[in-house]
Amino acid sequence: MPIDAVIAGGGVIGLAVAWRCAERGLRVTVADPAPGAGASWTAAGMLAPVTELGYEGRELLDLNLAAARRWPSFAAELGDAAGSAVGLRECGTVAAAWDAADLAGLRDLAAFHASLGLRSEVLTGRELRTIEPALAAGLPGGLLAAGDHQVDNRSLVRALRAVVARLGVDVIPARVTRIAGTAGGTEVTLDTGDRLAAGVVVVAAGSWSGGIDGLPDPPPVRPVKGQTLRLRRPPGLLGHVVRGSVRGNPVYVVPRTDGELVVGASSEEAGFDLRPRAGAVYELLRDAQTLVPELSEAEFVEVSTGVRPGTPDNAPLLGRSATDGVLYATGHYRNGILLAPVTADAIADLITTGRTPDLVTPFDPARFQARTEARTQGGPS
Ligand code: GLY
Repeated sequence: MPIDAVIAGGGVIGLAVAWRCAERGLRVTVADPAPGAGASWTAAGMLAPVTELGYEGRELLDLNLAAARRWPSFAAELGDAAGSAVGLRECGTVAAAWDAADLAGLRDLAAFHASLGLRSEVLTGRELRTIEPALAAGLPGGLLAAGDHQVDNRSLVRALRAVVARLGVDVIPARVTRIAGTAGGTEVTLDTGDRLAAGVVVVAAGSWSGGIDGLPDPPPVRPVKGQTLRLRRPPGLLGHVVRGSVRGNPVYVVPRTDGELVVGASSEEAGFDLRPRAGAVYELLRDAQTLVPELSEAEFVEVSTGVRPGTPDNAPLLGRSATDGVLYATGHYRNGILLAPVTADAIADLITTGRTPDLVTPFDPARFQARTEARTQGGPS
């Protein structure tokens, strides 16, 4: 039987795309040397369009907000289809100020949020400790983003793997090394030397997306290393995701209902060096304990390292590539877990209807080609 869609990459993006395509009746194959074991496994699972807000502009914010709204139904549907809970926790996020200057910064941020129509609320030190008693005494205040939630990214990976297996998706433990357009569709070459012919190929290989040969417009994705720590305490230490900037160092603590606490995340431009770095572990523990002193008593379970797929404008590439029959669903940078539902629906819609949903048209991969061509011709970059 011919394959309708090969998905190059089996992280949450690739698996979610595979699920939505298989649901629509397509014959799907996913190729990944270690499905779900990359950034999707290292992630903390924050669904945080407000507290992860950067300066990338309205279109990315709208995409992130739409993704956050999509999450409850996505999680319910996936949990039912997979027969296992996805671990969505609608707990809100608290940003704790470390000192008075930090609190002033959070006040400015709250005003910025309000100007964008986003929900956040400045908290006094007393209010902060009332809603999160485990926070250090003496913190001057904070910010509550009541709509920024979390999902257990590892439960999510397990659920996606289960559902694609149920739908008959073939998951091949190999890396796609080359993609070529052919008269009747596309052909992918795997690092095993095998070749697969398919109607369409979706590049969802995260930081590895730019290294696939044969594409005239390789996605401009670079690896941005991040480390997360997994700790354990009896459940209930924290009720919200807690984040802060301790002496200028960002840190967050994501509490699962079962007592696991994910501390993240460092950010380094270190290529594909996936070795954990002692200094990053030290800084994460130091800063997390500064905000939540009781973490010093936690069991240290694990350090995990992954690479976020960063792009020149911090926004994903979603849609057609320059090669007929090749689509990109990559470059999600810090928001791959958040954006999985909207990405999967958009790519499955594009494959089955030929139309790109309005929400994702600003993330057309061709925007980078236009820049490259302008640079080549001496235009503004
Ligand atoms: N989304 C959190 C991070 O990338 O660290």
